[in-house]
Amino acid sequence: MNTGTNGREHWATRTGFILAASGSAIGLGNIWRFPYMTGEHGGAAFIVIYLIAVCLIGYPLLVNETIIGRVSQRNPVGAFKTLAPGSPWWLVGALGVFTGFVILSYYAVVAGWSLAYIFKVITVSQGAGIDNAEVFSRHISNIWQPIGWQALFMILTIAVISAGVVKGIQRCVTILMPIFFVLLVLLILRAVTLPGAGEGIAYYLKPDFSEVTGRTLLGAVSQAFFSLSLGMGVFITYGSYLHEKDEIPKSSGAIVGLDTVVALLAGFAIFPAVFALGFEPGAGPGLVFITLPAVFAQMPFGTFFGLLFFFLLSIAALTSALSLLEVVTAWLIDERGWHRKKASVVMGVTIFLVGLPASLGYSVFNCFSLPFFEIDLLDTYDLLANSILLPLGGLLTAIFVGYVWGTEKAIKEASKGSTGFTIGKWWAVLIRYVVPIIIAAIMVTGILDSLGR
Ligand code: PHE
Repeated sequence: MNTGTNGREHWATRTGFILAASGSAIGLGNIWRFPYMTGEHGGAAFIVIYLIAVCLIGYPLLVNETIIGRVSQRNPVGAFKTLAPGSPWWLVGALGVFTGFVILSYYAVVAGWSLAYIFKVITVSQGAGIDNAEVFSRHISNIWQPIGWQALFMILTIAVISAGVVKGIQRCVTILMPIFFVLLVLLILRAVTLPGAGEGIAYYLKPDFSEVTGRTLLGAVSQAFFSLSLGMGVFITYGSYLHEKDEIPKSSGAIVGLDTVVALLAGFAIFPAVFALGFEPGAGPGLVFITLPAVFAQMPFGTFFGLLFFFLLSIAALTSALSLLEVVTAWLIDERGWHRKKASVVMGVTIFLVGLPASLGYSVFNCFSLPFFEIDLLDTYDLLANSILLPLGGLLTAIFVGYVWGTEKAIKEASKGSTGFTIGKWWAVLIRYVVPIIIAAIMVTGILDSLGR
């Protein structure tokens, strides 16, 4: 058994943990999903609700999961087994591992599109009169190309995870995250200095609450879960590689802060450019793949910036995928005694196969799109994971610490190694009452609302 710190790998430095954890949090969720959700849900009003969700639910839960990981020094299933032996609570950890499996399966499909677009944007943004919606739909409805890129993305992810926590994950994020931030700053500077950018900035900053419904609230909460990688044991797993001397409350603050700032900044890189060049913000999931290439096509040095953008998006996706595969891999290593290499390869390949229907949903399985019976498989995976599985995982984890394991123990664990800022009674109130009530209420109204449509 792998209890205590014996035999378990640990982050080599505190920065290693913060980079890996923010690498997990910052991903397609910030750059692909956040802007289109904002565009679909009325701009700044969505942002305000999102920020409230991050403070009331996101930060407390991120701390919560990290504490469980560090104190148990185990993967999500093992962590619940350690803290509540002989009880069925380990099922919450198992739910997390399953959710990671589902998310990575379709995440790799979108990440594959992003890799493909690093090259596609060069051709797309050169020709005049190219219909980008057509280009995108032709790309995703091709059978083999998207699968090839999805496979390449999974191979990269497996290669890093099989190399280990420090030599794989930590080394990779230490190189990629700084590159990511430099690229992001370059892209924002380009976008906000375009003539006409002001309109996009105004749209982004002026809230219109008349569009807010139950679906908006569920959208904001599910976005917070997805963007912060919450509710499925990423932070239990990454937290299990922490030393006792590491400060959880402060590091968690840094991670939540970075993730939120990057999501907001991604909006600043995208909306000004979209408005400056006369496009619509509410394009949905295609915003990044259809509207943006058109924007780049018209921008001075657009091909270059387009290439940078998709490179940035691919980096963000890779550092998030690492955490998804690590959760599943850590479970097999701890609970089943598998070797890291075998666990990461077997799971990586299986996840790739499970993701195939999401990719083929635009070609072979397109037969589901009959007029009255339209199912987008990838959207279905996304909805299942983000609107149901993640909030459910977060809700149960909060109930576990709030009512079973005990918030006093959690607060004591969090205060180890903490100098200055730490969590106190206010955090217990959030975990015991605020988090469960908000999540339960929003899941019910959001789901009823979606069904009513
Ligand atoms: N947080 C990642 C993103 O924003 C996605 C993710 C969700 C990663 C859940 C791990 C776990 O893209």
